[in-house]
Amino acid sequence: MNRTTPPLDFASLFAPGLPPPAAKWNGFAEYNFIGGHNDADQVPLDDLIKAMNDVLAREGRMLATYGVASGPLGYKPLREFLAQKLKRTAGIGCDADEILLTSGSLQALDLVNGIFLTRGDTVIIEQATYQGVLTRLQRLGVEAVGIPLDGEGTRMDALAAALDSLERRGVRPKYIYTIPTVQNPTGTILSEARRHEMLRLSAQYGVPVFEDDCYCDLVWDGKRLPALYAMSERGGVIHIGSFSKSVAPALRVGYVVAPWPLLSRMLALKTDAGSGALEQMILGEFCRCISRPMCRSSSAPRAKLETLMDTLNEHFGTAAEFEDPKGGIFLWVKLP
Ligand SMILES: Cc1ncc(COP(=O)(O)O)c(C=O)c1O
Repeated sequence: MNRTTPPLDFASLFAPGLPPPAAKWNGFAEYNFIGGHNDADQVPLDDLIKAMNDVLAREGRMLATYGVASGPLGYKPLREFLAQKLKRTAGIGCDADEILLTSGSLQALDLVNGIFLTRGDTVIIEQATYQGVLTRLQRLGVEAVGIPLDGEGTRMDALAAALDSLERRGVRPKYIYTIPTVQNPTGTILSEARRHEMLRLSAQYGVPVFEDDCYCDLVWDGKRLPALYAMSERGGVIHIGSFSKSVAPALRVGYVVAPWPLLSRMLALKTDAGSGALEQMILGEFCRCISRPMCRSSSAPRAKLETLMDTLNEHFGTAAEFEDPKGGIFLWVKLP
């Protein structure tokens, strides 16, 4: 660049309303408590390497085409695996063509938001919830009504009151967003009775449930309650999930389960020519071939949780209030 020429002022060309610039990454802190990171020792590396070699040797030439001969919904063997797994573990009866593979479940969140939300809309969320949801709603200019939680998850009396009060004001929320299985951040599991009640309220007020089940494989005893998607008799639920928590977040593979009239609208917004196929192929092969349940060993996070709870008890005594969660990666602590 010629020294006398002033640098081009890109900032004066930026679109209005951009979020603040991202901070430069300076590495992880020595004690890394960033939410959602897995334990490096728990990544099933040998199985992933084998899966990658096998699937590339067999089908690698399909990488020559967008969508690896499976179309825009994503790598079909992985969708077929998911359809079987969701049936077996969550009671969801869907076929592979009702599943859309996404770049992490964050893209799934964006697509669901994309088909429903416009500035000024209202949604219902849990009072304490995933930060990624809050920043998205804020950016979209959507009002979020928070429902308090207790030990059994979202409180249904508060949900009923919120829906009633919104209806009186002539507001129909676009969805009720919930993380029913080991909720982020409270670690609670929405009880079966409350799941029924949430679906009843959803039907009564004509508001769909948006179920984010990305922690469903992380229940300590491996037994999870049926998904709201499976329990809904009138198809009023959209379900999203992820391989980030059960296998590895850097793979960036998530999914949406919804009937075609909704998936077809999401696909029209998903203009990225397909999410990364290599990750999907490796996961498809990995999931098809492993014999143990598709979840990372719960003994490692459980051991860490016990250390954390013992240490809190030792240093804070009764001042630190928490409940021993039934799974997941969070401990919700109340301090004075
Ligand atoms: C509740 C919830 N939903 C979605 C995500 C996004 O996960 P990913 O995009 O890695 O699938 C997270 C990540 O922590 C989360 O906690």
